[in-house]
Amino acid sequence: MVVVHLSAECFPLAKVGGLGDVVGALPKYQQELGVTSIVVTPYYDRKFAHDNEFEVIFESNVRMGDRDLPFQVLKETTDKLGFHLHLIRIPGLLDRSEVYSYADETEQFIAFQLAFLEWLLRFSEYPDIVHCHDHHTALVPYLMAHAFKYRFLSTIPTVLTIHNGQYQGWFGWDKFHYLPETDPLTRGVLDWGGAINPLAAAVKSCWKFTTVSPTYLEELKQSSKGLESLFLQEEKKGSGILNGIDTDVWNPGTDSLIPLNYSMDNVTKGKQENKRALCKEFGFTLSKPLFAFIGRLVGEKGADLLPAAIEKILSAARSKASILILGSGDPAIEEQLAQLKETYKKDYNIYIGYDEALSHRIYAGADFLLMPSRVEPCGLNQLYALKYGTIPVVRSTGGLKDSVIDVTEPEGYGICFDELSAESIVEAIGRAVDLYANTSNLRLLRKRMMLLDFSWNRSANQYIDLYNSLK
Ligand code: ADP
Ligand code: GLC
Repeated sequence: MVVVHLSAECFPLAKVGGLGDVVGALPKYQQELGVTSIVVTPYYDRKFAHDNEFEVIFESNVRMGDRDLPFQVLKETTDKLGFHLHLIRIPGLLDRSEVYSYADETEQFIAFQLAFLEWLLRFSEYPDIVHCHDHHTALVPYLMAHAFKYRFLSTIPTVLTIHNGQYQGWFGWDKFHYLPETDPLTRGVLDWGGAINPLAAAVKSCWKFTTVSPTYLEELKQSSKGLESLFLQEEKKGSGILNGIDTDVWNPGTDSLIPLNYSMDNVTKGKQENKRALCKEFGFTLSKPLFAFIGRLVGEKGADLLPAAIEKILSAARSKASILILGSGDPAIEEQLAQLKETYKKDYNIYIGYDEALSHRIYAGADFLLMPSRVEPCGLNQLYALKYGTIPVVRSTGGLKDSVIDVTEPEGYGICFDELSAESIVEAIGRAVDLYANTSNLRLLRKRMMLLDFSWNRSANQYIDLYNSLK
């Protein structure tokens, strides 16, 4: 079976968040299970593209409105990532350093998709599945089904995975002329509320769609930025498959980015030594439980609630915790969190920015990982934390609900709360501080977490079953 994954991100070429992790790992695990996995992403002017060898395997032009865009498909020659990585390079559009945030992002991703389809038309043998990830690639199922130019591709099954339904890629009908001619009767498929909505169009025209956790599939029917009725209408096509983690990259036993490797057998010493190094780096007292937050500093992640919660915890007469933040995002939240550093020098620190290596040191060295998410389609941080014996403190939503069981349950290992408020975070941290005081319980919980298998082995098979159902 040959599967083509289309995505804006792929670790280690380009990662902004979990999408990069997933597309850098799932295809590798599928390849190990006998699937030929081809990953196609835009070309980015980044280290990975410079340091590795690529060959041009296809060159052509693609029309987008009145622009005729020359493009190249570059293939990484060694397949060292465990799958076949291909990059689409379009001078002036897809050859920049950042993944998102350009004013002409709509044009960038439309051009990416059109160039891909142009190339796909010339395949000597069509793949068995085209698997699209998020809205950046979501026009592909519509175009394969309805564009005259691509009618030969309409028999290839398409799968859409929704990593984040908050972002749908809307653009105005004034840009409709960018797309190749389609049957006028199908134009309504593109529309949602008077704009072209790529995510909605893909949900309507793909053969199957998945969400990155079962609970998130249900949540989208209740709250999805206007698409609720669509998810209800198309529910038979949807399924929820929990993400996995790449244990070649995320494994405390082999991780070369952490000071001391450890396994379940020496977890107490391993955590202690990694914590010692982290406390030294950020000026914390070793004896207090260390809570960390890693992620985008945005409302979706509940980061707006952190300043009030941190203030409440650390202003207590004898604060019992240390808190470390790694992230960037909303400038107002960044500013509030940065200011707290002035007041709580000993027990609080923050690194504003993106640092992959530091994230590994934190998963290994922290005692608890905080995730007070408002929305969390899956969440990978809690899965990494579990693997590193770091107790997740999470709001029970989306994938967090599907992967973290509260310690009060028989086989539980995490701390869960429901209400979205600074008070609930404070209360959850209070429970964690009490738990930390009981060292034998702590050792047991760490071992219990590290025994869990959230690797891709399980979930990769679920995708393969889905592909097989479409053949
Ligand atoms: P999302 O994709 O919504 O941001 P996920 O939990 O799925 O959330 O994945 C986030 C990924 O990005 C994880 O691999 C996490 O470690 C990483 N990450 C997030 N922020 C940072 C940061 N500031 N520095 C390093 N890694 C980060
Ligand atoms: C999105 C979601 C996150 C998920 C990731 C990978 O960015 O916000 O919850 O883990 O995609 O699927």
